[in-house]
Amino acid sequence: MDLQKNFVDSVHLFFKEKGKEWLDSLPELIKYCEEKWSLTVKDPYSLSINYVAPALKDDGTEVVVKICIPGEGFLDELEALRLFKDQGIVSLLDYDKKNGIFILEKLSPGHTLAELSDQAEACRYAARVMSNLIVPAPQETRLPTTKGREENLRRTYNQNPNGYGPFSKETLEKALNVFTYLNQTIEKYWLLHGDFHHYNILASGEEKWLAIDPKGLVGEIEYDLIQYMLNRLPDEGAYDVTKTRVDVFTEELNLNKERLILYGYCHTVLSTTWMVDDDGTYEGNFHQVEAIFEKLYESTFGKSILSGVSKEEL
Ligand SMILES: Nc1ncnc2c1ncn2[C@@H]1O[C@H](COP(=O)(O)OP(=O)(O)O)[C@@H](O)[C@H]1O
Ligand SMILES: [Mg+2]
Repeated sequence: MDLQKNFVDSVHLFFKEKGKEWLDSLPELIKYCEEKWSLTVKDPYSLSINYVAPALKDDGTEVVVKICIPGEGFLDELEALRLFKDQGIVSLLDYDKKNGIFILEKLSPGHTLAELSDQAEACRYAARVMSNLIVPAPQETRLPTTKGREENLRRTYNQNPNGYGPFSKETLEKALNVFTYLNQTIEKYWLLHGDFHHYNILASGEEKWLAIDPKGLVGEIEYDLIQYMLNRLPDEGAYDVTKTRVDVFTEELNLNKERLILYGYCHTVLSTTWMVDDDGTYEGNFHQVEAIFEKLYESTFGKSILSGVSKEEL
């Protein structure tokens, strides 16, 4: 089976030996889907770590088949798709827990928000999608919380006393303080998408956009918007684009600007640490966006980030 090289490399990197076995079993899994749901699986989309392809059912209906490595990630996505049902998210038509398979409504025309050239317009569409994803967190859920994200950053900080990737120890410590302050001062918990960005927002019908691919998380809406703000930033003028996005999101969704910018600072540091290679090198471009959030905080609130989250204010 001819598979996209990036996809094979990513699966090896994330899932090691288990990933190799899963890749080998893909032809069988595709055949299993074709028989179980009476459909023909077509060529896949551009892939990252899951096998996602359009498919045609024998009755003529178009669907999308998403095959994942069974386990925690699959179960979280399943829970999130069910909890967000009919709320600005793609419809889940069927699933197979044992084999990690989703059968999804096929969105059409299906291009992503990344294809819009007008950033402010894209941001307003994203805000509209998010306004449909505002759902209180359920009392009982298997989904992780943003406290877990803070713990993730704390582990990296503790294990790397001299800093990590592009970050000094001081920057990691500052981001951790901000994250701790935010998690300790949450007043209401919401169900979050967990990976809300341009490439997970697809056109569905004319002028309508829907989210796909929720990771599932519990926390504040302000946190859920940061991943979007890290994407599609121009090399020149990233500060102004970020400022516009912060303004659009806070106005359209009536959010807390201070918390949004603070989440921007600590989540940018965290998500950059996820992309540091085993040898300590970092080649992505999220780095330095934390400095943009810091500057934005200082110019908006007239104080430093650390004084903004100092214990006196708790
Ligand atoms: N329901 C859908 N309708 C149309 N295209 C889809 C659908 N779901 C996924 N895709 C396409 O497949 C790509 C990968 O799907 P996604 O669920 O985001 O997988 P991953 O978890 O690997 O990021 C998307 O970026 C999109 O282009
Ligand atoms: Mg995706």
